[in-house]
Amino acid sequence: MKPIDPAILSALQQLLSQDDQPLYRGELTGLVEQVLENRTRYLEAARRFGTPQYLFEEPRLQAQIQRFNAAFARQGLVARVHYAFKANPSLCLVQAIQRAGLAADASSGLELELALRCGFERIVLSGPAKTDEELALALRHAGRVTVHLDSFAELERLEALAARTQTTMRAGVRLNTQGHGLWTKFGIPFTALPEFTAQAGHHRHVQLEGVQFHLSWNRQAGGYLHTLAELGPVLGQCAPPAGWKFADIGGGYYPEDDEAAYPWLTRRGRLLSLLGLAPAEGPPPDWNLEYLLHPVQPIEAMAREIMDAFQAHLPGGLEMWLEPGRYLANQAVHLLLRVNDVKTPELAITDGGTNLLGWERLEGEHTPLINLSHPSLVQKPCRVYGSLCTPHDLWGYACYGEQLNPGDILMLPAQGAYVQTLAQRFIKPLCQTVALDLQGEMRQVSPAETLADRYPQLG
Ligand SMILES: Cc1ncc(COP(=O)(O)O)c(C=O)c1O
Repeated sequence: MKPIDPAILSALQQLLSQDDQPLYRGELTGLVEQVLENRTRYLEAARRFGTPQYLFEEPRLQAQIQRFNAAFARQGLVARVHYAFKANPSLCLVQAIQRAGLAADASSGLELELALRCGFERIVLSGPAKTDEELALALRHAGRVTVHLDSFAELERLEALAARTQTTMRAGVRLNTQGHGLWTKFGIPFTALPEFTAQAGHHRHVQLEGVQFHLSWNRQAGGYLHTLAELGPVLGQCAPPAGWKFADIGGGYYPEDDEAAYPWLTRRGRLLSLLGLAPAEGPPPDWNLEYLLHPVQPIEAMAREIMDAFQAHLPGGLEMWLEPGRYLANQAVHLLLRVNDVKTPELAITDGGTNLLGWERLEGEHTPLINLSHPSLVQKPCRVYGSLCTPHDLWGYACYGEQLNPGDILMLPAQGAYVQTLAQRFIKPLCQTVALDLQGEMRQVSPAETLADRYPQLG
């Protein structure tokens, strides 16, 4: 690359020093404190069942469910919470959700079968381009399922299949907004709702009752508020013969305080490295353990604003349906790892690899890594890698702990959402899951993958 003119470089440097995103140090220690309170139990789980392991903590799941339910409880408004299976459909977690009385959001035939087998009484079947087999399964369980239709063509297919078995099938329709970019893959535009409603009105077997939308990764209520304001007038323009019964506002509620971003990956950080003023990857040598935190509105405040907008903009008497996944599951599962090799005091390698997360997420996102064997509320810089044959197999650039010794047990807390489902069979086997129940009992609920699981043809 041609050297940059010193005057331009100096101007850029000056510009870059005016960073408007504050960086914080130690802001996630609340999560670390929470983990260390239960340290003995976690160490026991590692000792009894070995590592690596996913540790499912039912008390934490139930606490999240209660908090979410309480946040959306309001007199005069029916809120029905469907757990989004896609976030984590592991059996122990899904069964605990069912015991807690929630409804289910299934996005495939497989998830629908699981929800039915686990005894969920109210299920939505969502997702694009459902197969005839998936729709037929929903029809066989029409008493328990509502199908969220994704297109005009899907409406026609469902009607034809329902007519064959003379079944009445409750349905919603998924809506997308113009502001959605790639998300226009899903559903039909808001503006097409009157036409869709009219077309559904000609059918005898599909009974349209509601609408659905979904917005991902919401740290504030704003997106829901805009969408509800946009939806209100559209719902007012048209209605099925029996009227609208529900509006499903989807998932996307962000949990608080369990991750942060690395400053060298912010726009400013990337520009600095592009200009050759910072290393091409990883932390600069003078990194002082500061992170960028995206503020997350507590669920109670978010719920209040959403319910206000729901009641202000939508016709009265509508049920509010919700589909949280991440919010409920994330804090309920942790990863336990063992340090297998310490190359220098600042470089250690664990038994499990980041194939257990599914992708190289922790190169770009910070989650506290906690040494349960030598705990500390102070974070020290060090690189902790997994044992896969790739340098991208990284758990983090720092660890809460005194020092790293071979045999130490490390915990990566709050890994319950989009982790077990995304885990890959890359080099190493998928690991076991251990469950800690409401009585404090622990048991292995699924074993680690074996050669026979991966190669059944070997016999
Ligand atoms: C339709 C729908 N509902 C619910 C969810 C769950 O979202 P989250 O886990 O962010 O709450 C998703 C996730 O993509 C979704 O597409």
